Amino acid sequence: MQPTDMKEHAPEEEFGAALTAATALAAHAPSSHNCQPWGIVRLAGTRARAAAGHVLGVEPRPDEEYVALALDHERELSALPAHATEMRVSCGAYWRILLRGLAAQGWHATRTRTPASEAAPVHGWPHRWSLLCIGALRRTATCQGSLAELHGAVHNRRTCRGPYRSEPLDPAVLTILERPSEAPGAAPAGTVTTQHITQPHLVRAFADFCAQHAGRDFSHHKAWRETHSFLRWSAAHARSRGDGFTLPQLFGPLSPLRQLSTRVLLNPKVLLPLCGLGYHRRLAAGVATLIRESTPGLLAMGFEARRPGLADMLAGGARLADYWLAATEAGVALHPLSVAVQHEDLRQELQKSLGLRGRTFFISRLGSPEVQGSPTLRRQGSAVHHPL
Ligand SMILES: Cc1cc2nc3c(=O)[nH]c(=O)nc-3n(C[C@H](O)[C@H](O)[C@H](O)COP(=O)(O)O)c2cc1C
Repeated sequence: MQPTDMKEHAPEEEFGAALTAATALAAHAPSSHNCQPWGIVRLAGTRARAAAGHVLGVEPRPDEEYVALALDHERELSALPAHATEMRVSCGAYWRILLRGLAAQGWHATRTRTPASEAAPVHGWPHRWSLLCIGALRRTATCQGSLAELHGAVHNRRTCRGPYRSEPLDPAVLTILERPSEAPGAAPAGTVTTQHITQPHLVRAFADFCAQHAGRDFSHHKAWRETHSFLRWSAAHARSRGDGFTLPQLFGPLSPLRQLSTRVLLNPKVLLPLCGLGYHRRLAAGVATLIRESTPGLLAMGFEARRPGLADMLAGGARLADYWLAATEAGVALHPLSVAVQHEDLRQELQKSLGLRGRTFFISRLGSPEVQGSPTLRRQGSAVHHPL
């Protein structure tokens, strides 16, 4: 008789356990406003496997398992047209961590495909989810990378919005981060550009740009109302929702009185009229000071394609996930400032002033944080997969 931990499990059971572990890990992927707009469907039934085969363009094989990545429209941001890309980039980051988590347990993606249409591929598909990608996975004797190391990087990664140390970023580290990952399933070469900006005059130019334009984050009625709906007013509130962020996660430690006054100020009914009086410029000046005084570098990512499609957006998310995890391991933190690329006029002006390649979809401060900050929470459902 075999000891319990050596017991043989049926491959479907084994895959179920590996998928559960990988979804729990991938749930910690970054997403705009921590909205976690993803869903995972395990396509295990006969009809669901046939649907997977149809999208992948192959007959389902008995030794393969099939999983689908979905966008959950109940959870997506939609205030700005650019959110459509951001949601798919966030889902791409999630999918990449999920596939890396499976590969680290011996389940390798033999084929992935984004469908021609995001429509439901099979009867029983969750209402309000659209299909983004299907993957076929096969068990092999080798594990790609260490699950423990991946777990460490995923859990240590977080958005750091406070001051960064002033010493320059190590050029050797930047060279490594610029290089696309060679691991299987990484964003295909030639789809995503990665650029570092470390020349002080260009970092100052970005600070000036944000002083002039970052106020749009606060003064745009629809966008601010949506952002405000993701603010959590206490640790208990954050726990009960499992998404969004708290004021200390956005602004650093605040006294109870400061938390209260900030909460009042950020209420759309207060903030939007104040922006009419120019308050958004004061908030933008704070962002600009952070960049000017404590930001040694910037990261910009762009699509090579002029008109990026779904596959480009998922590749952008995959590249972002690989980059962010590698940066975390190297002690480098990120603070995205998406307002600069969410409005077409701003994106074009930014690309011109900083000489950015491709079509920029992500721009971030880069550096070694003075304080780490606390991790954001994840909703319980985000670590679960839907069986079909
Ligand atoms: C595509 C994308 C855009 C983001 N844009 C911003 C941003 O403009 N400002 C910001 O403070 N954080 C931004 N973030 C970070 C998210 O708010 C963060 O990932 C989320 O709150 C979860 O927190 P964590 O990264 O600490 O796990 C962005 C993240 C992604 C994936």
